[in-house]
Amino acid sequence: MARLTGGIATSHVPAIGVAIDLGKTNEDYWKPLFAGYDFSKKWIKEEKPDVVILVYNDHASAFSLELIPTFAIGCAESFQPADEGWGHRKVPVVEGHPELAWHIAQSTILDEFDMTIINKMDVDHGLTVPLSLMFGEPEKWPCKIIPIAVNVVQYPPPTGNRCYNLGKAIRKAVESFDADLNVQIWGTGGMSHQLQGPRAGLINQEFDNQFLDRIVKDPEGQAKVPHIDYVREAGSEGIELVMWLIMRGALDKDVEEVYRFYHVPASNTAVGHLILKNKT
Ligand code: DHB
Ligand code: FE
Repeated sequence: MARLTGGIATSHVPAIGVAIDLGKTNEDYWKPLFAGYDFSKKWIKEEKPDVVILVYNDHASAFSLELIPTFAIGCAESFQPADEGWGHRKVPVVEGHPELAWHIAQSTILDEFDMTIINKMDVDHGLTVPLSLMFGEPEKWPCKIIPIAVNVVQYPPPTGNRCYNLGKAIRKAVESFDADLNVQIWGTGGMSHQLQGPRAGLINQEFDNQFLDRIVKDPEGQAKVPHIDYVREAGSEGIELVMWLIMRGALDKDVEEVYRFYHVPASNTAVGHLILKNKT
């Protein structure tokens, strides 16, 4: 059977992708941020996941206000990097795992999560920046990737609790897939940030660090935190953090914290990063 071995959380700031693509990673502003992922790049080379279930949000690249799925799963053979206004990122095509993706769709839908099935979609910085941070700049991504897109752009996003429970359903689905696969789940977005309005530029380091502690040690408590607390404390785009609860729900209640990194600022946000492993 397939095994869900670990979870990664990371911010997905678009400017990080631009810094990589324009060769700016050694500049003073960016150097400490990329150094924070050196350990992770080595770690994932040793872990060698076959498949990554990558939870992220689309930023009006594949979807728009015309179509807003709450949870959507990418079942296609491949996904092209999106053109977000300045051309497609020159990163490898994202190869999916249609068999496992359809299995997760079936299992989670029969478990009463109304997943939207996607057979064609371009993937934006929300998905490609985490891949670049973890894998660097390879010719080909070293594993298959199943995108799970979550609406955190247009109110109402799903609750933290719903996300946490979806994570549990995803784990059940993975562990009932009859193939010897090492599967990881990643949750992306955050940390505190607000991109618009009078509070644009908001970063709340105290909230971020509490969130990092709680998502590791008290995920059930964190899952109960209402949207308004994220918006008040972490800014309007801080709500992206509910996606980390999908990753966390797919892991054991008691996990090993392999690595943590926190850095301020990158563009308009704080960058948070965790590597978690199941003990069982
Ligand atoms: C920024 C961060 C994001 O998560 C995002 O999706 C867009 C912009 C920023 O900091 O600029
Ligand atoms: Fe974002």
